[in-house]
Amino acid sequence: MNGLSLDGRVAVVTGGAGGIGRAVCADLASLGAHVVVADIDAAGAKEVAAALGGTARRVDLADPADIDRFTAEVGRVDVLVHNAGVSFVEKFTDSDPAHWDLMWKVNLRAPMQLTKALLPGMTERGWGRLVFVSSDGARAGSGGEGAYAATKAGMFGLAKTLAREAARDGVTSNVVCPGPTDTPMGRAVAERHPGLLDKLARQIPLRRIARPDDIAGLVAFLCTDRAGYITGQTMSVSGGITMA
Ligand SMILES: NC(=O)c1ccc[n+]([C@@H]2O[C@H](COP(=O)([O-])OP(=O)(O)OC[C@H]3O[C@@H](n4cnc5c(N)ncnc54)[C@H](O)[C@@H]3O)[C@@H](O)[C@H]2O)c1
Repeated sequence: MNGLSLDGRVAVVTGGAGGIGRAVCADLASLGAHVVVADIDAAGAKEVAAALGGTARRVDLADPADIDRFTAEVGRVDVLVHNAGVSFVEKFTDSDPAHWDLMWKVNLRAPMQLTKALLPGMTERGWGRLVFVSSDGARAGSGGEGAYAATKAGMFGLAKTLAREAARDGVTSNVVCPGPTDTPMGRAVAERHPGLLDKLARQIPLRRIARPDDIAGLVAFLCTDRAGYITGQTMSVSGGITMA
């Protein structure tokens, strides 16, 4: 299949040291992109970047001043994958507003700030890719994830608006919604709720929770030329548990 090469493109992956982020970095690098692994976990980012011949950059996405520093230093960016995320699972009426604030900052405000800084370069060059890693919890609701789902649902409106605003300049903007995925974040939830993953797997038509590779394949495809006619879309990668 033609049109899959990302040779000469520079891709920033936030949360690139995490479970899904690592897989996204690996797939983008395998298509030829130079990958900038952006994460608060400096050691993890360094390890991922070293394995792929990419660049590691530590950034705290909860800190707007640090995001400004990052965007000033990073240089040209053609592909921006908003993958970093934090989640707290707590019944909404018991939830801690300090957790809302952190999730708003990392999950939604940071993608807004990064896009505001890096999209103009893409539109000037006439080519760019924005991919937002949201969650099926935002599409379908998910017990204990009210505030998290709200921040992740905010990505839908942002991504679709950017799709409309940037289409004429060759930039696409799409959302990928993982279902339950075997990553440190997924395992942390499972530890607090024993038996949850097995129960979920039984409800998933494809009968297993996702592996990071399952998510990364679609994210990477959306970054290629071959996906150049796909924009403003929200796609689940969840073994069929969410079909709407
Ligand atoms: N694992 C799942 O079941 C699941 C399901 C739906 C959606 N998601 C979403 O997928 C994305 C990736 O999640 P994952 O499962 O790989 O989680 P993960 O915890 O393995 O990775 C998240 C990464 O984000 C980084 N990060 C967290 N706070 C940061 C900050 N302030 N600044 C910079 N980096 C920061 C972490 O260091 C980590 O490397 C997240 O946005 C998550 O919400 C995950």
